[in-house]
Amino acid sequence: MTSTMTDSAFLQACRGERPDHTPVWFMRQAGRSLPEYLALREGTAMLESCFRTDMVVEITMQPVRRYGVDAAIFFSDIVVPLKAIGVDLDIVPGVGPVVADPIRSAAQLTQFRDIEPDDVSPITDAVTALVGELGTTPLIGFAGAPFTLASYLVEGGPSRDHRLTKQLMYSEPDLWHALLGRMAAIAGQFLRLQVEAGASAVQLFDSWAGTLSLADYETYVKPHSAAVLDSVADLGVPRIHFGVGTGELLHSMGDAGADVVGVDWRVPMDEAVRRVGPGRAVQGNLDPTTLFAPTEFVHSRAAQIIDAASAAEGHVFNLGHGVLPATDPDSLARLVDFVHGYESTAS
Ligand code: CP3
Repeated sequence: MTSTMTDSAFLQACRGERPDHTPVWFMRQAGRSLPEYLALREGTAMLESCFRTDMVVEITMQPVRRYGVDAAIFFSDIVVPLKAIGVDLDIVPGVGPVVADPIRSAAQLTQFRDIEPDDVSPITDAVTALVGELGTTPLIGFAGAPFTLASYLVEGGPSRDHRLTKQLMYSEPDLWHALLGRMAAIAGQFLRLQVEAGASAVQLFDSWAGTLSLADYETYVKPHSAAVLDSVADLGVPRIHFGVGTGELLHSMGDAGADVVGVDWRVPMDEAVRRVGPGRAVQGNLDPTTLFAPTEFVHSRAAQIIDAASAAEGHVFNLGHGVLPATDPDSLARLVDFVHGYESTAS
């Protein structure tokens, strides 16, 4: 990492410092809200595009060029490392990941072997190329957390209530922990490969952990997420840990070994800072649907968030979840300018 990269507002805020402007990036900043993304993806399936080095580089760069965000997020998907080791799954447009043989027995776990560097060489090649193109803008690598990955593998696809996932978790705890142990190993390997290829931060997405009570999270999930975060601790890059509807889990998700805790829009930022506790930065948390309101409304909400985060040990501005496909890219461009120019009056 160059010294100017280390001094980037994003990495400073992740380390708990106060840079000269609030850094901002958006989850799902690359994707269907961008016409240039839709044009490039025309005729190429989602998973195929994730294994095409040229497409990964171009799609990752698109929002950086358009918005001047403070970080790039690597274009991929949480199921990519599973696809890379041969798991039979696909990403169905408008649905999400769909798995051919949902997990019901221990015998099915043998397919979850370790990742070999060759399995993901188009991806690590893309990271290397991107780091060159990005210059001093940091690249965030990412992986799906064990629970969120397991939820797709057990349900066979997206789920509202995670009934089958919880059924397995409560009825067959040995199988559950074996499955999450394999997911933790794979997620950790995938993050390590991205950082070794040049990524300067990682985000662990536990998008669906908010479906769990704190007690169940701590018993069935946290040790595995902690194993992932711990497995990359030696690399010295900030580790961001994010989930949706995780207001009750914020402290625990930080305690799993995060440097930055991602917050959705349901908890006000000052309360989130209190729940996360000292020693960690926060990221978030504008409701993505706010972007469909008038500009003055969007910006007043953004200002409230920055003011409410003034007590935080580092704040990275983001949405509380991903950019919705119908979002007007111009509203995101205006928001980036607003966040960069806003000087908080809160102490
Ligand atoms: O810009 C970025 O944030 C990087 C790209 C990114 C994608 N997926 C690309 C994608 C990231 C970080 C992800 C992670 C991901 N994938 C998560 C965790 C983040 C979150 O949103 O909570 C989850 C749960 C998935 C699983 C998944 N993949 C879903 C739910 C979907 C949407 C299905 C749909 O069509 O509505 C996908 C597909 C997907 N991943 C798309 C993109 C751009 C859309 C597919 C397309 O463009 O054809």
